[in-house]
Amino acid sequence: MDSEKLVGHDSWRQRSELKAMADLPPELEDVLSKLDQEFWVPTEKLHSIVEHFIEEMEEGLSTGEPIPMNITWVHSLPTGDEKGTFLALDLGGTNLRVCKIDLQGNGGKHSIDQAKYKLPPELKTGNANELWNHVADALAQFMEEKKLGAEYHERNPVPLGFTFSYPATQDRIDHGVLQTWTKGFDIDGVEGHNAAAQLREAITARDLPIKLVALINDTVGAMVASAYSDPETIIGGIFGTGCNAAYMEDCKSIPKLKADLPRDSKMAINCEYGAFDNRHRVLPRTKYDEQIDEESPRPGEQTFEKLSAGLYLGEIFRLALVDLVERGLIFKDQDTAKLKKPYEIDTGFLSQIEDDESTHLTTTRDLFQSTLSLSPSEPEIELVRRLAEVIAMRGARLCACGVAAICKKKRIQKGHVAADGSVANKHPKFKKRWAEAMAEILGWEEGRMEDPIVLTSAEDGSGLGAAVIAAMELKRRGEA
Ligand code: BGC
Repeated sequence: MDSEKLVGHDSWRQRSELKAMADLPPELEDVLSKLDQEFWVPTEKLHSIVEHFIEEMEEGLSTGEPIPMNITWVHSLPTGDEKGTFLALDLGGTNLRVCKIDLQGNGGKHSIDQAKYKLPPELKTGNANELWNHVADALAQFMEEKKLGAEYHERNPVPLGFTFSYPATQDRIDHGVLQTWTKGFDIDGVEGHNAAAQLREAITARDLPIKLVALINDTVGAMVASAYSDPETIIGGIFGTGCNAAYMEDCKSIPKLKADLPRDSKMAINCEYGAFDNRHRVLPRTKYDEQIDEESPRPGEQTFEKLSAGLYLGEIFRLALVDLVERGLIFKDQDTAKLKKPYEIDTGFLSQIEDDESTHLTTTRDLFQSTLSLSPSEPEIELVRRLAEVIAMRGARLCACGVAAICKKKRIQKGHVAADGSVANKHPKFKKRWAEAMAEILGWEEGRMEDPIVLTSAEDGSGLGAAVIAAMELKRRGEA
């Protein structure tokens, strides 16, 4: 039997970083102890997850399954001298962003002028025409607002780098056939089609002087944007609405790559490891994870992402609370209608709970009142804090497994992981928990002065990375 489990009731208190604020009645103490056991990922389990990760990555490099390990046609990291003016378009999980980026070179100097546009929720379940019309309208509006028409015209179009943060098969850098939607998107008519061509058509229909030069993934964007000024960059990782990473692979280690390239050439690989363990061999899934999967637009897909990414952490928390309500254990005699609405709680909610250092935890109390119209008792507050902790802790520890697997596979011992996304940048404890799990997996010595592999912030990764990749591509084509 697992030694972690033998520790029994005290174990969750030992593992928790929280100071106990209230005594719990035995039934809630028991609930917490069980939740803790279900969500806690012990060191041995981290090791077996990483081993399995490496196997699935190798398989993906051969066959594209179960992890896609997508070829991106980005052959090198930038030198920091890339120059020029570019548009960048970022279609991620939550926002639509358009940027005008001036690359000045000289060790990665640049300036960004950007605008954010709403992505109406109904678009996420609409059709391809609606999507691309909306995106092209945003581009047109940006060109107009920034008066770019004066400088760019049909014979001198502005080059565009398009960050499309979904799994895509690329035959070239300016091409990308969507493999499957992720992050709750379910737009008809894009899967199996070239998203770059669909966008190009919408741009042409509006006579916009824009030339799509590169379609990139946000992870590759984060890696390249960071490497533009930081030569220690080894990996680009997104820990946000979705989760994924990219790294540089040797072409000779990519059996599925059929192109005739020099033996020592490299290729950025977009792992798409949100799809890790879709065969359910190793990840510790709870009944809440199973429910999220079953009710998602693509059941059976993105297993790893559904346990660790920002889109789902709040939902796991909500489902666990609903379960306790239904078992008559919490919020008795209160109206729980809001709590019962799917995706009513986002990851920011969990971050705020974990960030709450107010006397008597008034922030958490106010949050429950304003978001869910619920007034938790002292023991209920204690319970929700610990629940937020175990869910976020599991997420951070699992996120470390993906990066550790790349490092082990590539024998990388030090460097910077350029991280972007709301979980990495906004969750108060993510970075610390991630680093602790990395140390357990990679066996970093205790008492070290600094961690050999660290998360660095790649906050403008998607925009800047797209511009730098477009600049590299134009140079490669001799058009710069
Ligand atoms: C997508 C990836 C993306 C990640 C982070 C996942 O759902 O499949 O392409 O890199 O989210 O945005």
